[in-house]
Amino acid sequence: MPQEINPGLWLAFVVTLLSLAACGGDAPGDSKAGANQQQAAAVAAAASRGGAAIWESCASCHGDQGQGLQSLNAPSLVNQDAWYLKRQLLNFKAGIRGAADGDAQGARMMAVAQGLPDEAAIDAVVDYIDTLPDVPPVTTVEGEPAKGRDYYDMVCGACHGPGARGNVLLNAPRLAGIDDWYLVAQYRNFGRGYRGSHSDDKYGKQMQMMSGVLPDDTVINNVVAYIQARATGVE
Ligand code: HEC
Ligand code: HEC
Repeated sequence: MPQEINPGLWLAFVVTLLSLAACGGDAPGDSKAGANQQQAAAVAAAASRGGAAIWESCASCHGDQGQGLQSLNAPSLVNQDAWYLKRQLLNFKAGIRGAADGDAQGARMMAVAQGLPDEAAIDAVVDYIDTLPDVPPVTTVEGEPAKGRDYYDMVCGACHGPGARGNVLLNAPRLAGIDDWYLVAQYRNFGRGYRGSHSDDKYGKQMQMMSGVLPDDTVINNVVAYIQARATGVE
């Protein structure tokens, strides 16, 4: 942004453009893109009012307490660590995550993140999410934890930690306490190349290399059931 432009006016201008674009999309195929642009405009409009105000535009998909809404494929956010949420928001905003062909859910979130004007807005909303209480994870995936244990301990635990609490030094996020259906979806997304394919996605690439290790859906479910048992048994 050129220095002499007033940031408030600039933001108002961008929001107006976005809402004009959203209203202009009358063709049936445009309604999704229009909805995405409206979401982004709402986020941008709230940004100057701080984290709690930004959060209001996240709650429609992620739930008012950040507990997640599986029907919208939007995961709970409150049990995840702030450093990981921040990195994912930066990646969505930069199009490092969510831009791959076929990644419809990632594209929805990418559109919202692009409404966040800068890193300060990302920090503000992540700090706000950090103040929301953790929610006990609900089990939705059927699997046999005992059969997932060896895979987890031999492969995943090296980076994600023995209790699946994550390891910031290895850039590997917490998995215990994250929605089990979301873990399954994201593991598959790495395998499909939806995540980890962008040339700037350094950490996604590390995980993508692991995405072929579990041989089939039954094993994926067993490993996720084991991770879920770490969350529900220990915490
Ligand atoms: C239109 C619905 C929608 C809105 C609004 C929305 N999200 Fe999302 N969000 C999603 C979906 C869907 C995903 C899962 C994307 C995927 O499957 O890759 C997601 C994923 C995320 C992730 C990644 C979590 C992880 O562990 O990988 C973060 C962080 C996130 N959203 C934060 C936010 C924040 C902050 C806001 C408000 C500024 C917001 N979202 C608004 C739908 C939404
Ligand atoms: C070499 C280290 C490494 C190993 C081994 C590894 N991961 Fe990961 N994993 C990562 C990193 C790094 C990320 C973060 C990627 C990013 O930032 O986009 C990640 C992310 C994930 C995510 C996405 C979580 C979310 O909320 O977005 C899932 C699910 C996952 N790993 C599951 C597994 C499973 C299951 C295994 C074992 C089969 C495994 N990982 C093994 C490094 C690893």
